[in-house]
Amino acid sequence: MRALFLALGIGLCTPVHAQQAADTVAPEGAGAGGLQVPGLLARAQAAKDAGRPVEAENWMIAAAHPLAVEAGATVLRAGGTAADAMVAVQAVLGLVEPQSSGLGGGAFLVWHDGASGEITTLDGRETAPLDATPTLFQDASGQPLEFFDAVVGGRSVGTPGTPALLKAAHDRLGQAAWPGLFADAIRLAEEGFAVSPRLASLVAGDADRLARFPATRDYFLPEGEPLAVGDRLRNPAYAETLRALATHGPRAFYTGEIAADIVATVQGAPGNPGVLTETDLAVYRVKERPALCVPYHSYEVCGMGPPSSGASTVGQILGLLSPFDLAGLGSDDPEAWRLIGDASRLAFADRGRYLADSDFVPVPLKGLLASDYLKSRSDLLRGDDALPEIAPGRPEFDHALNRGDDQSIELPSTSHISIVDGYGNALSMTTTIENGFGSRLMVRGFLLNNELTDFSFASHDEGRLIANRVEPGKRPRSSMAPTILRRDGAPVLVLGSPGGSLIIGYVAKTIIAWVDWGMDVQEAVALPHLINRFGPYDLEEPRLAAPLRAMGYEVTLRDLTSGLHAIEIGEVLQGGADPRREGLAYGE
Ligand code: GLY
Repeated sequence: MRALFLALGIGLCTPVHAQQAADTVAPEGAGAGGLQVPGLLARAQAAKDAGRPVEAENWMIAAAHPLAVEAGATVLRAGGTAADAMVAVQAVLGLVEPQSSGLGGGAFLVWHDGASGEITTLDGRETAPLDATPTLFQDASGQPLEFFDAVVGGRSVGTPGTPALLKAAHDRLGQAAWPGLFADAIRLAEEGFAVSPRLASLVAGDADRLARFPATRDYFLPEGEPLAVGDRLRNPAYAETLRALATHGPRAFYTGEIAADIVATVQGAPGNPGVLTETDLAVYRVKERPALCVPYHSYEVCGMGPPSSGASTVGQILGLLSPFDLAGLGSDDPEAWRLIGDASRLAFADRGRYLADSDFVPVPLKGLLASDYLKSRSDLLRGDDALPEIAPGRPEFDHALNRGDDQSIELPSTSHISIVDGYGNALSMTTTIENGFGSRLMVRGFLLNNELTDFSFASHDEGRLIANRVEPGKRPRSSMAPTILRRDGAPVLVLGSPGGSLIIGYVAKTIIAWVDWGMDVQEAVALPHLINRFGPYDLEEPRLAAPLRAMGYEVTLRDLTSGLHAIEIGEVLQGGADPRREGLAYGE
């Protein structure tokens, strides 16, 4: 740990309050509100502010922070592939949006290959340590822990997958020189960047938890005060970690001094140590898996299968809605939202019972997406009012279906990257350290994930095993839904979002808005969210509250802070960035 403190260098990491980052913020109003927007991206910011998509001829990138978009744009402009650009984007996101994703986390990547027309996925999900047991998140009497008692500290930390995923994606799908992809992130980490409004407000809101661990406290709460908007923040320890990754590849992360520091930090977390070992890091592997594609009208909707529940649950929702005329109803009709809401509830019931890491638990994926099964579930939607009760269905399967229902708690978090390059490749990657600021443990300039809390805390439900229980070496069930829509084999829409289990609703809504309601990508991502997972309807605005209540729904008004990034591939490329967050779409 001493090495860690020295590496972080309290003085070096201290933001310069007096030295607001005016010298790195573009002039002429770009970056209004304290966000650092490079001048080149002023056009992208203006389009977003005006609610218009950004257009480009050759390539496009949409991600959660302007500096990350700029890093990706530099790679694409120089002829890199979408996979090359993703590495640069992720390296910068880990610096400027550290609360959402980074080297200490995991990610899923969906790839449409422009040359072969094939689509595949890479699973860089975090993995439960080999010493983890199904009681990891239970107290001495077998009761599930409170969520934040489980999250904060070492217990929740799974073996990170992101560094290995970056290299696997680059090896298979990239062509630029690996070391150069980290140049922008290293420069920004050393020179400093302006703390954004979102980062500042999240630090302030989480100050008590961040203050529990010295390395984390010194970085986010220098001199005891939360970082403020516009503070210049430097992270030389992160620069050093990136240099090691750039020079030696992921073995510099999964073995040696960095791995030893990660393990020491997790096992030594005061009050809540974890069981991660150097063996867990050394044996970590990215898994290439077939993409899960489902039909929706004239499109194939392709995404990430287990351990994510993203593609299967989005696919079920769309499959259940296929027989209904959503286009005719339109986006203002409460009947459209009754159908979407109850389709989502039916899909979430199945997800809670059946979805988990299919390398450990048989998952009835084919049965859940079979047209006969979807038709029988869809027929349940043919009333006028909210369904009074929802239960999981019984899809066809050659295994017993006597499972318990999942009880995992998933709060909004995460980040999404969409990229289309000049070679016809399309990349959709959702990346996370799980909760905002993950486990709150910081090592070598990056935060460690709390991904293991995506497992069910309980292992049994009334005596029946829960599919998503903790098991050694297993990957926790995710909601991340990086998605590519294709028509006649060609990619037409690339999208995804952060947001915990809300991701599924955000992505399904955006697809419906684009496919059924003919909205452009910016309108589709901006369209107010109405999300129903378990019965109550979460609404972003009150417009449809009264008619939905009259149908029998309990309605709650709340923020639904998605971070959708979408690219439409037509005669030109059109990019959309979620107005709820700081990201941009930009292309040339
Ligand atoms: N931790 C967010 C997800 O995997 O769904």
